Amino acid sequence: MGKRFLAAFSGAVLALSLAACGGEGAGGGGDTSGEKPSDLTIGVSMPTQTSERWIADGNSVKQKLEAKGYKVDLQYAGDDIPTQSQQVDQMITQGADVLVIAAIDGTALSGQLQAAADAKIPVIAYDRLIRDSPNVNFYVSFDNYKVGVAQATALLVGLGLLNKDGSKGTAKGPFNIELFAGSLDDNNAHFFFDGAMDTLKPFIDDKSLRVKSGQTAIEQVAILRWQQETAQKRMEDLLTSSYNDGSKVQGVLSPYDGLSRGIITALQNAGYGGSGSKMPVVTGQDAEIASVKLINDGVQSSTIFKDTRLLAEQAVIAAEAFLQEKEPQANDTKTYDNGVKVVPSFLLPVQTVYKDDIKSALVDSGYWTAEEVASGQAKG
Ligand code: BGC
Repeated sequence: MGKRFLAAFSGAVLALSLAACGGEGAGGGGDTSGEKPSDLTIGVSMPTQTSERWIADGNSVKQKLEAKGYKVDLQYAGDDIPTQSQQVDQMITQGADVLVIAAIDGTALSGQLQAAADAKIPVIAYDRLIRDSPNVNFYVSFDNYKVGVAQATALLVGLGLLNKDGSKGTAKGPFNIELFAGSLDDNNAHFFFDGAMDTLKPFIDDKSLRVKSGQTAIEQVAILRWQQETAQKRMEDLLTSSYNDGSKVQGVLSPYDGLSRGIITALQNAGYGGSGSKMPVVTGQDAEIASVKLINDGVQSSTIFKDTRLLAEQAVIAAEAFLQEKEPQANDTKTYDNGVKVVPSFLLPVQTVYKDDIKSALVDSGYWTAEEVASGQAKG
């Protein structure tokens, strides 16, 4: 909370200083409905290239906009908040007509968004909600609470406490599990964790699940910037501190494939998955190719597939609506309160992928080829 307040405060200071130095933008914004696509530029700000989903997101949005004749200014911020602020500032001063932003820290862009509003540039929050600003015009994402529900359900299915159809499984437990969450400054991390915990709670309450470390609060289990190495280190620490009595961890709730790979490395280094020691049930998200291979090989248990091609398409539809001076069509106008207002949203469905689903969900849909799944590497 304190952090959010501080971030909002520094955003406000930045907004003032931007306004003071006349950073409202040269071209861009205003009534664009009569202009040709080739005279319009969409600024696309993505968080990082370390995770392949954001590369795919950026490429898809760019290609789809360019196919319609628009100019695109696509920037990646290397997971560095000042870099992203600077890139968005520059898009505004260079006359972007719409901004599409996937924020690194959802609370850190209020100043930029004020400058965009002053220049009448609509802002679309892409996948991650931008918080603490009245100047977010639209939000395109997936149903993030359901992602968390799906991750927890996959953990329960993997352990045998539930069957895939949702009915009660034959396993009884008690099972030792550990929990991980994403970056606290990413609004999605809270939705994922809430969805997961609401789903796991009855099983923790009836003691079929036990979080042996006792770490169940999001602040205790969050991984800053979603970093694989940090997740690996935390898993190593958990194994040392809570499983040095001969007990085994049997399930790990992981909210993102990159974290899952760090967790799996820590587990393998400690002998899990070797002779006589089963790999715990590990969940994931994003269907990253290295993790899809791990699922195919029986090492990771599941992932949540979010088709970034469809998300890119929604971002393009929303951007075009704004450029034609129309309001994009929302399918959710209740869920995403950013601290200042409820942002109209378009939310896409998500799909759980176990080993058996790789072909139908990922290969048949053209997301990955069978060769990529086998090698664990994207052809690009
Ligand atoms: C996205 C996830 C992604 C995570 C880490 C979240 O905001 O919704 O798809 O796994 O960021 O990049």
